Amino acid sequence: MRKLLLAVAALLLLQACSLFSNPFEDSGKQARGEYLVALLGCGSCHTPGALLGKPNLQQALAGSDTGIAWNNPLLEPLPGILYPPNLTPDIETGIGSWSVQEVARMIRTGLGKHGQTRWVMPWPSYGKLAEEDAIAIAFYLKSLPPVQHKVPADLKPGQKTESQFIHLGVYQNTPASAPLSK
Ligand code: HEC
Repeated sequence: MRKLLLAVAALLLLQACSLFSNPFEDSGKQARGEYLVALLGCGSCHTPGALLGKPNLQQALAGSDTGIAWNNPLLEPLPGILYPPNLTPDIETGIGSWSVQEVARMIRTGLGKHGQTRWVMPWPSYGKLAEEDAIAIAFYLKSLPPVQHKVPADLKPGQKTESQFIHLGVYQNTPASAPLSK
């Protein structure tokens, strides 16, 4: 009888532990996701300060206050701007309310909760990821400690902003500026 009681107690304890443990703990998937996130440079846009060359690693992947213009600021003084969002699982400011499948779909297709995003985030290249790799990335992101950090709202062309932004462009190497042409 005592043995039975002990067994029941152990079972209850096990159940309690699984109730409180992080459902996104799976060391294999997490490690694969972490490796891919580092390799694919997600933090180079999604970590605060990274777009200005000074990433705040205390808030890794918690979103950027510096935006990225998606049309040419040399032609349009007030371009449209996207702010790389917070990828930690904070419910209010991050991807806490996204499912693993929704995050994986966004990475591979650019199709987020609010529709199709522009080609600022390189999802056409990430589309080549195997589905299980996109799932591993999503799983890893959902296992991170949540960081509360709200990024500015995206802007349409013509809207003013006080926050900084960068522009990813293609710049031509003219013979005068190319170092090898000397
Ligand atoms: C070149 C910059 C850049 C890189 C690199 C990048 N992203 Fe993004 N990402 C963005 C921008 C900008 C948005 C916002 C798009 C929008 O608002 O329409 C975004 C949106 C997202 C979203 C949607 C989140 C939300 O709350 O709407 C997810 C998820 C995401 N990125 C994951 C990733 C992952 C994972 C990687 C690496 C595999 C990555 N991104 C690499 C720029 C980038």
